[in-house]
Amino acid sequence: MTELAFLLNGTPVRLADQPPTRTLLEFLREDRGLTGTKEGCNEGDCGACTVIVTDADGPRALNACSLFLPQLQGKAVRTVEGIAGPDGTLHPVQQAMIDHHGSQCGFCTPGFITSMAAAHQQGRTDHDVVLAGNLCRCTGYAPIIRAAEAAGSSPDPAWMDTTPPDLPVVEISSGGGASGPAGGRQPPGTAFRPTTIDDLAAWYLDHPEATLVAGATDVGLWVTKQLRDLPLVAFLGGIADLRQITPEGDRLHIGAGVTIAALHQALRDSHPHFAAMLTRYASEQVRNAATIGGNIANGSRIGDGPPALIAMGAQLHLRRGDETLSLALEDFFLDYRKQARQSGAFVTGVTI
Ligand code: FES
Ligand code: FES
Repeated sequence: MTELAFLLNGTPVRLADQPPTRTLLEFLREDRGLTGTKEGCNEGDCGACTVIVTDADGPRALNACSLFLPQLQGKAVRTVEGIAGPDGTLHPVQQAMIDHHGSQCGFCTPGFITSMAAAHQQGRTDHDVVLAGNLCRCTGYAPIIRAAEAAGSSPDPAWMDTTPPDLPVVEISSGGGASGPAGGRQPPGTAFRPTTIDDLAAWYLDHPEATLVAGATDVGLWVTKQLRDLPLVAFLGGIADLRQITPEGDRLHIGAGVTIAALHQALRDSHPHFAAMLTRYASEQVRNAATIGGNIANGSRIGDGPPALIAMGAQLHLRRGDETLSLALEDFFLDYRKQARQSGAFVTGVTI
């Protein structure tokens, strides 16, 4: 069980009794009755479960079906029920969807509304990109895009502001120190949330059977689709050093925890072709969660990122306990999903 706290539609939520691999979608629908967030595919493909998650990096659209609850620690979640104002005033994207006939059966509509509201908050106008992860079977996209364009001229409503200082700050148990509970092992069913690479390295050496979770866009499906139990999990989202992109001479070090969306943003000018390729990576919601390290460590040489990275001569960096190791990315992949990674070793980044 895992303790955590986050804001849900502006209200603090504190939980102490949740399995670490419970999804936000299940929690919203089954515990909170927030059934506006729909379950379509339950694997990150349709966007019916889109919510807005805000942290120090700002708001972004994510799929609630492939988000484990501990990933929300200290963040603010807004569901479709929190998009209209407290007095019922519609958000500009909601009004525009009505005005432009953007909804027919309505099943996809909450997901579209949350994606559009997140983009509206960010001042985005690339509606085709933003909405490519939301599938609509009956309305057709033209009225929806027209609605998104029409809403763009309206200011973002004041009630959508969730600045980081409003986020709950609580002391959260990580299940123990760097190596788990003093002198012992991490109890099954608990989550470890390291904040430094050193803490993760020490803990993972002691718990090499654990599952490391970054964005959960793939591991989430092990739970929701394969119904696998993941008794021991470490969530890497709290390790700031893994999320850095650092110039090193004429090379660039990309931390394993850098999301595909952040990588696209960082490389738009310096690597326009690679950045353009990244816009073909899944969808906005998935790119906002998935990390380059997860794509490499959990994938194969024919994954989304590795072919281009190998072509650029990427070096991969691993950590095992106190040891570090670097190798050419192409030498990391031995066979399909078979990698040159020792037990207890994890990917810390890649250099291009
Ligand atoms: Fe389809 Fe989540 S239910 S993306
Ligand atoms: Fe029916 Fe979009 S309105 S699926």
